[in-house]
Amino acid sequence: PLSRSMSMTSLSGLLPAWEEDELPVEDLLLFEVAWEVTNKVGGIYTVIQTKAKITVDEWDENYFMMGPYLEHNFKTQVEGCEPQNPAIRKAMDALIHNGYQVHYGRWLIEGSPYVILFDIGSAAWNLDCWKEDLWQTFNIGLPYHDREANDSLILGSLIAWFFKELTEQLGDKPNVIVHFHEWQAGPGLMLSRSHKIPMATVFTTHATLLGRYLCAGNADFYNNLEKFNIDKEAGERQIYHRYCLERAAVHCAHVFATVSQITAVEANHILQRKPDVVTPNGLNVKKFSAMHEFQNLHATNKARIQEFVRGHFYGHLDFNLDKTLFFFTAGRYEFSNKGADIFLESLSRLNYLLQVHRNDVTVVVFFIMPAKTNNFNVESLKGQAVRKQLWDTAHTVKEKFGRKLYDALLKGQIPDMNTILDQDDFTIMKRAIYATQRQSLPPVTTHNMLEDSTDPILSNVRRIGLFNSRNDRVKIIFHPEFLSSTSPLLPMDYEDFVRGCNLGVFPSYYEPWGYTPGECTVMGIPSVTTNLSGFGCFMEEHVSDPAAYGIYIVDRRFRSADESCNQLTQFMFSFCQQSRRHRIIQRNRTERLSDLLDWRYLGRVSTFALTGCPLFPQTEGFRYPRPYSVPPSPSPSLHSTPHHSDVEDDDESEPYDEEEEAERDRLNIKVPFVLSAMPEGKEEQPGESEDLP
Ligand code: UDP
Ligand code: G6P
Ligand code: GLC
Repeated sequence: PLSRSMSMTSLSGLLPAWEEDELPVEDLLLFEVAWEVTNKVGGIYTVIQTKAKITVDEWDENYFMMGPYLEHNFKTQVEGCEPQNPAIRKAMDALIHNGYQVHYGRWLIEGSPYVILFDIGSAAWNLDCWKEDLWQTFNIGLPYHDREANDSLILGSLIAWFFKELTEQLGDKPNVIVHFHEWQAGPGLMLSRSHKIPMATVFTTHATLLGRYLCAGNADFYNNLEKFNIDKEAGERQIYHRYCLERAAVHCAHVFATVSQITAVEANHILQRKPDVVTPNGLNVKKFSAMHEFQNLHATNKARIQEFVRGHFYGHLDFNLDKTLFFFTAGRYEFSNKGADIFLESLSRLNYLLQVHRNDVTVVVFFIMPAKTNNFNVESLKGQAVRKQLWDTAHTVKEKFGRKLYDALLKGQIPDMNTILDQDDFTIMKRAIYATQRQSLPPVTTHNMLEDSTDPILSNVRRIGLFNSRNDRVKIIFHPEFLSSTSPLLPMDYEDFVRGCNLGVFPSYYEPWGYTPGECTVMGIPSVTTNLSGFGCFMEEHVSDPAAYGIYIVDRRFRSADESCNQLTQFMFSFCQQSRRHRIIQRNRTERLSDLLDWRYLGRVSTFALTGCPLFPQTEGFRYPRPYSVPPSPSPSLHSTPHHSDVEDDDESEPYDEEEEAERDRLNIKVPFVLSAMPEGKEEQPGESEDLP
């Protein structure tokens, strides 16, 4: 995060003053380059998309994003327009006159940033020439079959050319900063430097290629960081050329950044350069004016998930949906890196514990990870059709019943309940019920998997035998596609789905940052993360007693896999034992951490510890205190007096006043400046417990 107008002198808190005139650059242009601009793949898209608003607020017309042009994405996400900046127009024209296509517009996300998108296909004919250039300059050869690497070279060549033209247009004031993300953007940086284009470059790596591969291959990565023969390992995995691109980009950049301390250490070993700066990933946090709005959203979205579950488990709905908890995991399908392996193992143990303790809670677990499929499967679609049919039948009978009841009341009579429904009504009801009979168990996966027999989630489900049978207390649904509100099966956007769940579980082994648990936090949904993820380490560092705030951190660093499984099982089992009122209280606490993850705060919190550059102040030392009502021992927090009316159980309670707790935390806490500011348009309502500290 680069800030042009960092006027912090008047602001209190941890971040030291930074005079505004320390960066007195006029007409400075900022560009951000990433393969995921307007193109969702994983978390880098989230970085760019969530940071857009705050960046546009600061940089206004001087900020541009760059990435590949993909026709469908452009049509659905971008409003094409003409560049207002003449230098940008001319630089684009220079490429267009040479036969390459470049598109310009506003990306339709919050902040509406300008995007400059380069059509890779229109430039593919020149690939060999650019490969030659890459080889001559950097001694890196790209194999013809690696489409991703070739595309990254085409994009990089176009981008370097663009900046050459642009800086020429800008004359003696080529005040340009370009921030490149991840290895796919690397060639743009390398070629800009080799062509001596006058611009300042930043390279952020969101992982290392080799780290990702080694971890996925079950290497004991963190204990052997300094021992790997990195060139050999990259060669053996046939990613040597990609690794060379990544490493060259890192070494060409003026400033090298990464997203967490753990990845900084990794980069130092694997890429042989210490990052100059660590910039933790933020989110664009939206605060509701009513404190309980996010709780209401949980309830309404949970109802939508329950509807889906009614259909999916038709004929087997012998569990109480009101006592059913929804857990989920989501992200790119990297089975062991994302910890799906220990999650499944722990679910099998949780199933056993719930059975032997005769717990009446059922846990439905969703795996949202895109895999190769051949669309939805018939059984899943049928489930929703059956549910709809039952709903329609109930509705039809209810209408008839209502009319007859109304007629009787008009005549001053109470109708005879034994005859109010006639034979036809019984017939359609019986037929609807008969339709719910099924020969098979509710399916584990919602789609036809292309690699069903070798798929790691399905193989492990087979191994642990969690097939959604009646006596299982843990049920599994694998949805091998990202969620969308236009889906005929589960029509919900990811955000709404998360809001409706009770717990996100992300026990990653390799996770440079890991947005998914942070997204849960800002929506007030508790989650599980690990001390090997950037996010988990960040929370461990900045929050005393993260578990009290609904952030459960599994130790995957100093424990064996089996011990980590036990710990995860214990977290989930304890979660299942909480009362509804406890869950409500915990969600309030979780949501209270959201300011910590807001770009308005994290945009300024970066750690420059690794170089000790005097320009950049240290920001360490801030810690969110333990919630006031939680005892200092590691024992679980106590059950408390309900704040809500809809309480499912009436256990003995400790007095708990949510407002008081928030207020005490507010007084206790030493907050950085952004946290103490009330978001725009938000006024404290009397009698409302504001969660802003
Ligand atoms: N995600 C999504 N739709 C889904 C599931 C996940 O958009 O159905 C997003 C999620 O919001 C998150 C991203 O995928 O921002 C995953 O990012 P993360 O940093 O956790 O992991 P990565 O995939 O980059 O390794
Ligand atoms: C929110 C709603 C309540 C609802 C509760 C369900 O707090 O405001 O009306 O009862 O969610 O919580 P649960 O943890 O059982 O999903
Ligand atoms: C990468 C990492 C992920 C991180 C994301 C954004 O995809 O795998 O952990 O959250 O980038 O930085």
